[in-house]
Amino acid sequence: MNESLSLPLQKLAIRPYGLALSHQARAALKAQRPRCVWLTGFSGAGKSTLANALELHLHASGLHTFLLDGDNVRNGLCRDLGMSDLCRRENIRRMAEVARLMVDAGLIVIVAAISPFRAERDAARRLFAQDEFIEVHVSTSLEVCARRDPKGLYQAVREGRITHFTGVDSPYEAPLAAEWQIDTEALELSEACGQLAALVLKK
Ligand code: ADX
Repeated sequence: MNESLSLPLQKLAIRPYGLALSHQARAALKAQRPRCVWLTGFSGAGKSTLANALELHLHASGLHTFLLDGDNVRNGLCRDLGMSDLCRRENIRRMAEVARLMVDAGLIVIVAAISPFRAERDAARRLFAQDEFIEVHVSTSLEVCARRDPKGLYQAVREGRITHFTGVDSPYEAPLAAEWQIDTEALELSEACGQLAALVLKK
């Protein structure tokens, strides 16, 4: 069997089926405005920390949320993917599509992934309506991330045990027009979380 995994949809004669219940109806029942908050930045920048704080904050305010964290998704849906450019592109495509489904389900979805390539982040943005997608650049410098090294990965890179590492021997394309930017060295977590929550809840 040498069947390709990616047959074009038109070859398979698959068309989207119009669902009877609208995404607006699902959102209305939850009394909230569904959104995708997309956090991008280096490993160790503080994306997961901020994403978790934000989700707790929104949950405590009675909102329905979900957090898609790169490390978690790579343990399940994307466990077949490595760290090559091609794999990262596919990783981001899948995360964006899952986020889209969750926003259709009425949720406020927070994505925390390095997502190093502008083209894939822009493609993710295009899945959403304007104002539905909030790109957040967690812009903590590579030097600070390497100093923090919460998972010991920068050390592993120095010892040659890991390659294709973002910011070292794999590129990172910073956003050009993110809705929000935060350097976690410059701003307290609670302050950052409050500011971001205000942006997410803005009508
Ligand atoms: S992405 O580039 O495809 O968006 P993602 O955020 O899902 O990456 O996963 C990155 C996580 O994998 C990091 O948080 C880190 O824990 C781990 N990791 C393992 N190897 C690498 C590597 N070569 N580059 C970056 N992160 C790596």
